[in-house]
Amino acid sequence: MTKGWKKSDWRALPRVQMPDYPDAAALNAVEAQLGQYPPLVFAGEARRLKKQLALAGEGKAFLLQGGDCAESFAEFSADNIRDTFRVMLQMAVVLTYGAKVPVIKVGRMAGQFAKPRSAPTEMIGGVEYPSYRGDIINGFEATHAARIPDPNRMLQAYTQAAASLNLLRAFSTGGFADIHRVHSWTLGFAEHDKAERYREMANRISDALDFMNAAGVTSLTAPELAVVEFYTSHEALLLEYEEALCRVDSITGQPVAGSGHMIWIGDRTRQPDGAHVEFCRGVLNPIGLKCGPSTTAQDLKVLMAKLNPENEPGRLTLIARFGAGKVGENLPRLIKAVQEEGANVVWSCDPMHGNTIKAASGYKTRPFDSVLREVREFFQIHKAEGTIPGGVHFEMTGQDVTECTGGLRAVSDENLADRYHTACDPRLNASQSLELAFLVAEELTRQRDEARRVAL
Ligand code: PEP
Ligand code: CO
Repeated sequence: MTKGWKKSDWRALPRVQMPDYPDAAALNAVEAQLGQYPPLVFAGEARRLKKQLALAGEGKAFLLQGGDCAESFAEFSADNIRDTFRVMLQMAVVLTYGAKVPVIKVGRMAGQFAKPRSAPTEMIGGVEYPSYRGDIINGFEATHAARIPDPNRMLQAYTQAAASLNLLRAFSTGGFADIHRVHSWTLGFAEHDKAERYREMANRISDALDFMNAAGVTSLTAPELAVVEFYTSHEALLLEYEEALCRVDSITGQPVAGSGHMIWIGDRTRQPDGAHVEFCRGVLNPIGLKCGPSTTAQDLKVLMAKLNPENEPGRLTLIARFGAGKVGENLPRLIKAVQEEGANVVWSCDPMHGNTIKAASGYKTRPFDSVLREVREFFQIHKAEGTIPGGVHFEMTGQDVTECTGGLRAVSDENLADRYHTACDPRLNASQSLELAFLVAEELTRQRDEARRVAL
């Protein structure tokens, strides 16, 4: 892919959002240790995901990417992993049913530990502390000691990622995700309108499965009904960790990021001549690139040339995150840049990061209406431009948290304090996630129906 590229080349380039480790010897020791550990994913899986994303670029599949803003050491538990996995399965059912195309499921999981921050320090209780940068870097606790970057946290993150991935693989193939269990995935969710709508859909799917069963198609004769493919992804922010887990794919001889199937470059770290782009351009994994209001057409062209010089379909996913009301003034310019270059990309919509506000109560939140609106705008613009909306990217959890306001079981500003658990940005709760999936499914259904009408 990139001749002459070395996994350590990023070190010579300007870096932003990365910690300065005070103890260089400890850092070196951790890097050496991680370098000897097994990679978390196999290169063949990353190549397979890339092929599936290529289909999303053509409208023949749809990407559902979601999970925590930041995974934390404290919230690590089997129940949390199961609940997020289960909501993603539910959302995927809703989307598949609506869009009638395969849904590619990619968790922001098993590696999403490092966070870019808007300022190097933050005020807590009138005291200024270095900013919390995610559990892989420093501690959330508001003490100066906790905020010192500690390289040993990388080892704990690796261990947590390995255990998370192990459980996700078990859920994916061990029977939990068998489509015949479509009804049981509602268990544990509080009653609400969307749960009812989901149940109706599940009934129709069960009917279809009964019919297939009668015709001899069961999980035994068609094992694909009993398993799902589930991939992992995270922002490749902490490059010492990424480099230490970079391996060479024995089949193609190409470097691969062994830290997760897909990695992405954040809106704050996408400098074309910066360290993060340099690292990501060299690995064979599918790469995501966040595009915010400050992304210029020229930047995007340079980034596409750097990150996907061979214009390989599925390699590059552009994750648009402009904010509700701002898609119309930003997305068309980037779509034009893509068209002028004849570039193959997957367009995905992140309706979270452009819609964060501070509530009167002081909590960081996201109004659910703004999230819905940005998704709608994303679909409208693609329709107007004749391009393909290929996926969505959400911060969500299977827990019944109160972090984003609104939704059917309306969370108000005053409710935010009830169950505000996020270590970073506010996430959609299970009910809001499902509601969003129905909206996206409606948009996809409409798009499919229109395409059919045109074809007739
Ligand atoms: C994120 O996805 O968690 C994130 C920080 O996004 P962005 O880079 O788009 O701000
Ligand atoms: Co976030």
